[in-house]
Amino acid sequence: MSHDTFPTDRPAVVTCGLPYANGDLHVGHLRTYVSGDALARALRRLGQRTAFVCGSDMHGTPIAVNAAKEGVSPEAFALEYHEQYERTFPRFNVAFDNYGHTHDETNTELTREFVRSWIDNDHVEQKEIQVAYDPEADQWLPDRFVEGTCPYCGETARGDECDDGCQRHLEPGEIEEPVSVITGNAAEYRAREHKFLRLSDFQEYLQGFIDRLEGTENAKNQPREWIEGELQDLCITRDMDWGIDYPEGEEDLVLYVWVDAPIEYVASTKQYSERVDDFDWEAVWKNHGTDEEPDGGEIVHIIGQDIIQHHTVFWPAMLRGADYNEPRAVMACGFVNLAGKAFSTSRNRAVWADDYLDAGLDPDLFRYQIITGSEFEADVNFSWDALQERVNGDLVGTLGNFIYRSLLFAHRNYDGTPDAAVSDEVSERIEAAIAQVEDSVNDYSVRGLGQAPVELAKFGNEYIQRHEPWKLTDEDPATAEQVIRDCVQLAKACAVLMQPVLPGKAADLWAQLGEDGSVDDVTLDAALEAPPETFDAPEELFERLEDERVEALNADLESRVEAAESADEDDDTDSDMDLEPIADDRISFDDFQALDIRVGEILSAEGIDGADKLARLEVDIGVETRQIVAGIKQLHDLDSLAGKKIVVVANLEKAELFGVESNGMLLAAGDEADLLTTHGDAVPGTKVQ
Ligand code: 2FM
Ligand code: ZN
Repeated sequence: MSHDTFPTDRPAVVTCGLPYANGDLHVGHLRTYVSGDALARALRRLGQRTAFVCGSDMHGTPIAVNAAKEGVSPEAFALEYHEQYERTFPRFNVAFDNYGHTHDETNTELTREFVRSWIDNDHVEQKEIQVAYDPEADQWLPDRFVEGTCPYCGETARGDECDDGCQRHLEPGEIEEPVSVITGNAAEYRAREHKFLRLSDFQEYLQGFIDRLEGTENAKNQPREWIEGELQDLCITRDMDWGIDYPEGEEDLVLYVWVDAPIEYVASTKQYSERVDDFDWEAVWKNHGTDEEPDGGEIVHIIGQDIIQHHTVFWPAMLRGADYNEPRAVMACGFVNLAGKAFSTSRNRAVWADDYLDAGLDPDLFRYQIITGSEFEADVNFSWDALQERVNGDLVGTLGNFIYRSLLFAHRNYDGTPDAAVSDEVSERIEAAIAQVEDSVNDYSVRGLGQAPVELAKFGNEYIQRHEPWKLTDEDPATAEQVIRDCVQLAKACAVLMQPVLPGKAADLWAQLGEDGSVDDVTLDAALEAPPETFDAPEELFERLEDERVEALNADLESRVEAAESADEDDDTDSDMDLEPIADDRISFDDFQALDIRVGEILSAEGIDGADKLARLEVDIGVETRQIVAGIKQLHDLDSLAGKKIVVVANLEKAELFGVESNGMLLAAGDEADLLTTHGDAVPGTKVQ
């Protein structure tokens, strides 16, 4: 594998985690896709031959469970969403070179070839395991058909992942107290033969791989714990009808969805190769190096942080086991919150992709906000207010303002680009901006890609302000010409640098400059090439997002959430039966007295990076200030919690959650963590009794 700086002379493939074809997309889902698109575009601007591929994830229980709820076949159900995604991504300027799906023939065939290679290379074995079974439904319960308790952290978990707790992948048979999602009954464990990929065969290889891996820190570091420990074999078959059949005569077994899903990265590249003359999928994906250090093209995976283990342990082992190349980099992004709290599709607390577009908002505005709102690895907040701030500040105030004033001045006074040379100062500043883009690509920082053109425009605004060309046209016309020549060059450089993150707006600007061809086809060097001699009067590239508009968008979101919440409340009043019965065992008054419960006041609250649900709170409990970790990150607007009174169990033993010490526990009611408080003047430290 090459670790040469991008651009290299090998072809690259950029992929995004495949979306499960099982529901509408909201703007939170789009983070990886717009980021992948920006990175692929930037690689091409550097001159790197790059294919950007993805596809819909059609198989597995995420599809089967939802299709069953709707009473339709999994295939029809998944295809409908697949077609919806195919339409939606381009509307956000996410331009995949190929967008396939895991149920198509290319992926089905390739998946079987992978499995046959593992069998031929003696990496597959058959073992008897305990599998959850629902006797009433007379059905095996793979993955999401069963829920229970995670054996590692004790949280409620799904059959194959601890999605509410430690986020580990769970193997069949591991989940404790299994309950069938079909009937709600306790499930039984029954013996069953399944196929396993022997991950221990790859332990040494994976240790070398993880040292070579590039990308975000979370993707490079989190897997070490798994790779350095004992690797559990991966069960690659499931008792289901929906999926790709196990290739060797086991008719009632299909492959686990996490087998055929990543292979779609390869299948999608293959489909692209078959359509164009100049891209060879095998040059990228097949191993052209050694067993210890596979080699080929530059493979970059862009994923959510919940699937790091799949991409840095299972997937490289799957590739190695079939003599394929390995990923060069894995970039794993943080969560997206909506106005400080989690998206909740069931509560309609979401800005749906279609809503955003139907509101007539340009996709590039969203792309810019989500890409520059935080570093890729950190959580990012989307809200209409955050969008407004970025649009009115960076895009209208800085980028749009500089470009419009420069091109208007140039058009009015010189009918286009003045006949003068670009100054050294401006050439050097453009060269620095080009270097910033090159570094951002090589540092896997999509945020840097968004920042580069805006910082260049900021320089442009300072430059024009410093030289005041409007005062010079009469007094010193030669200097005025030279200053505006510089500004037009800076505007052209902005177009080239904007293209990865703001591709639609870059194309508009390219046309305003009177350039031939497409800005999608130029490399970064074009930023220093002379613009056309003449161009028409420019138009403003960006419009302000006015307060009334943002208020209306916020009101619309709030009313939808309220409607969904009041529907939930109506459901709740009808469902007293859902309340848990009071525990039979009574505790003594002494037992209760053993609890030291205090009134506390929250001093600060912040999300723990990388943890889905956890927040770190500083709480004043009168006698001292405590650090408490609580699972409320997605349930409360953390920024608004400071100053709130809560109730804390102060003498609970300390615990470490996600590497952060928790010294006490706050009390909260129900799944939504409704925080307990006091209703009088009790000061922090007051005992609750
Ligand atoms: O977690 C998910 O949403 C999966 N559909 C991602 C699959 S990515 C790839 F490796 F297949
Ligand atoms: Zn867990």
